[in-house]
Amino acid sequence: MWLEDFLASKRNTSGFSHSKIILTGEHAVVYGNPAIALPFPLKVEAVIEEVTSGIIVESTFYTGPLEQIPTKLEGIRACIQQVLIALKRPCDKLKITIHSQIPIGKGLGSSAAIAVAIVRGLFSFFETKLDDKTLSAFVHTAEVYAHGSPSGIDMATAMSDTPIWFQNGDIVRLEVTSPLHFVIADSGRIGNTQKSVSRVRALYSNDEVLKADSLRRMKVIAFAAKSAMAKGDIQKLGKLLNENHSELIQIGVSEDGLNHLVNTARSAGALGAKLTGGGDGGCMLALTDSKEKMEEISSTLTSAGAQQTWCFTIEP
Ligand code: MEV
Repeated sequence: MWLEDFLASKRNTSGFSHSKIILTGEHAVVYGNPAIALPFPLKVEAVIEEVTSGIIVESTFYTGPLEQIPTKLEGIRACIQQVLIALKRPCDKLKITIHSQIPIGKGLGSSAAIAVAIVRGLFSFFETKLDDKTLSAFVHTAEVYAHGSPSGIDMATAMSDTPIWFQNGDIVRLEVTSPLHFVIADSGRIGNTQKSVSRVRALYSNDEVLKADSLRRMKVIAFAAKSAMAKGDIQKLGKLLNENHSELIQIGVSEDGLNHLVNTARSAGALGAKLTGGGDGGCMLALTDSKEKMEEISSTLTSAGAQQTWCFTIEP
């Protein structure tokens, strides 16, 4: 921070959010199918502080005036401007610093989480109450730029502290009755959700029968996964994750590197494994029945070429 900004700085506040993983139903959720997503504890903090002039954004992708933000962050610009207009502070002297642990383009919901943290931070800075409906409307603006026609599942999970069942914008908090141990592995390749969503749209619009069959099967998987979670039947849940991965291969959003990590996790004893998020690179997840197995699969995936792995458990 420059000295004059430091001296002028009166107060600062932060807004927070976190990443997400999709357990079942990515892509299908865009067509109104149900999906299950889990909050994943990689954090984003947006620090809002007062400076002497303009609106400055500081992040690892870009640091500078809001008006000059690069095209790929245009959604963030639109979202910030809309919030400031709504708060009747369009020309305020602000610095928005984004600290994010979420790698971008890896299917972990980085864009939604950043927007949620920024909107929360701005409302908190101007001491204005923020309800979920208002938050969703502003974050949706950013997500439309980032993904084209988002289902809203990334945003809903970035706002939730429990697993959710998501369908057509309706959100139901899900109960977990036995611990779910996950390994998430980053393939090292960046996916582009907007592109993979458009490709699936083209595939489905060329073949109505394939579309109906694919969506029907993924719907059955999502309902069965919800029931397996409620019963604590993690063996069944694992099988369903494998089935969901096969469906995602069918619609062309997996790739060799992800399939290799998925197969490696299964051979190393995972109950099930699949890609998570938009695909075409990004991350996969594996479900295991113990913390020990989770650590073992994590190091096997690293040896098999994963760029990074994370272990996490959802407790009942
Ligand atoms: C991206 O995290 C999930 C997709 O289903 C897209 C969306 O729901 O907007 C691929």
